[in-house]
Amino acid sequence: MKDFIKLQEERIKNAILSLGYSVDIVKLNVSSMPDLGDYQFNGVMSLAKEHKKNPRDIANEIVEKLDKSDIEKISVDGPGFINITFKNDALINYFNDYNLTPYNKNNIKVVIDYGGPNVAKTLHVGHLRSANIGEALKRLAIFLGYDVTSDIHLGDFGRPLGLVILELKKRHPEWVYFDENYNGEYPSEDVVTNKELEEIYPYASNKAKEDEEYLEEARIITTKLQKKEKGYYDLWKNIVNVSIKNIKYLYDKLNVSFDLWKGESDADEFIDDVINYLRNNKYTRISEGAEIIDVSLPDDKLEIPPLLLVKSNDSVSYETTDLATIWDRVHSINPDEIWYVVDNRQSLHFEQVFRTCYKSKIVNENVKLEHLGFGTMNGKDGRPFKTRDGSVMTLENLITIVRDETIKKINSNYSNEERETIADALSIAALKYADLLPVRSTDYIFDVEKFCDLNGKTGVYLLYSIVRMNSLIKKVNDNNINYNSIKMLNNKQDRDILIKLLQVESVLSKSMEEKSLNYITDYLYQLAKVYNTFYDSNKVLIEENKDLRESWIVITTKVVDVMTKLTNLLGIDIPDKI
Ligand code: ARG
Repeated sequence: MKDFIKLQEERIKNAILSLGYSVDIVKLNVSSMPDLGDYQFNGVMSLAKEHKKNPRDIANEIVEKLDKSDIEKISVDGPGFINITFKNDALINYFNDYNLTPYNKNNIKVVIDYGGPNVAKTLHVGHLRSANIGEALKRLAIFLGYDVTSDIHLGDFGRPLGLVILELKKRHPEWVYFDENYNGEYPSEDVVTNKELEEIYPYASNKAKEDEEYLEEARIITTKLQKKEKGYYDLWKNIVNVSIKNIKYLYDKLNVSFDLWKGESDADEFIDDVINYLRNNKYTRISEGAEIIDVSLPDDKLEIPPLLLVKSNDSVSYETTDLATIWDRVHSINPDEIWYVVDNRQSLHFEQVFRTCYKSKIVNENVKLEHLGFGTMNGKDGRPFKTRDGSVMTLENLITIVRDETIKKINSNYSNEERETIADALSIAALKYADLLPVRSTDYIFDVEKFCDLNGKTGVYLLYSIVRMNSLIKKVNDNNINYNSIKMLNNKQDRDILIKLLQVESVLSKSMEEKSLNYITDYLYQLAKVYNTFYDSNKVLIEENKDLRESWIVITTKVVDVMTKLTNLLGIDIPDKI
């Protein structure tokens, strides 16, 4: 079914065209002055300029010509704004047929690269946003008809792993992994725990900073690992498995999942292909012993340094790994777009990689490579959020802090078990909602009281609202209600709900256009708020007028349906009760 607002926009466009004016896109905006109308059309000014006429005159001509079958009241105000109020019947008819449903397939193939945790390193607050934003964009894109492949792109093949293996070798020199003459099977059970890994990596990394010899040993082991040398490579597989279990456990809590669990190690086999291709086609040059690719362009405002393909010590860079990953994706998936949901601070990296890809035709120019950068979650001091003693805050700790706050809000009559389950849902909702609320590229401040405020723009408020609507619907003991039939509206409050519901499709497309979830989080808040205003002053279940009571129940189900679907797009689960 055609979106109601799109239909009205089309009618305006038809009126304009039939008057002989030219127009491309007609956009109706939610009214900034609701007393004047539900929506307004502000496009007359530019038409007037183009055709050198008085805007009010044009506005009046449009109003005259317009198909006004769904319009109750229309006026030309100010210099030439057209304000429109829709007929209640038109709204009712529309919503009686309306259901928010996934869009038809659009055949656009997208790979979304997000998460990007590093194996054997603790997941920390810095990993929160990529996972949340990436997951929500994935769900939104699928809903809107894209053909999506999500890929976690683990950091699993670099120096950190070399360091961890070296330290394990120091601690357990007797392990079969380090015995060159060993010919048997390697252990199939985990050889370390995640807890040990969390201790080992920082230890080894600090030691390497002070101890040149240790660092050199780690380098050698890293090279052996990358050459997939027996023993080292087998130990690596074991470590990766341990680490992935923990990553899965935490991402599960956040409702984050992936189609592909590939990593940098999977790109390794394409590195030679990429380097040879770039070399053979003369895109590289040697500078100070390293092999680089120039990517700066004449009108760059900021100098973009060359991409470092092969370092002077013969090892490859983070950029090379990403080139090889793109090589793999192009050959195995052939996507139309690749989206990278990665911290803003990596923008130079992606600029260099993308430029290299286009310049060398590793991807063709129709393929869209896009870095969707995001801002940092900061502490109240404006710096990346840390623990009280100044060390990195783990993701698990962060979730616990929010959980401790949300559990306070739960009905104390519930059993402990019930409270625990609800606290899980509430804390994830609070955290994810707060994380998706700001415009993608901006920083925000971690403020647990604010995130869990029962009456604020929060995931907690959202879930409370939905749970309350659901419980209202559950209490309806009338099997004869036709859930597709709103029969009447009675006041401003019930009408305001339908007016707010009109926005949903444009909110989804705006979010996709800008690849930012803030439009959805904000809209959910507004929708909950209009509904709650209605709910607070109307007694739905005991309303005596049967038609009105049923209409209100149907409206409630429509709101719940939209809110549930949008909440799900954000990756937030709704508990049965709070
Ligand atoms: N592992 C990287 C990091 O922690 C993020 C990976 C982002 N994705 C990519 N294709 N480079 O910084």
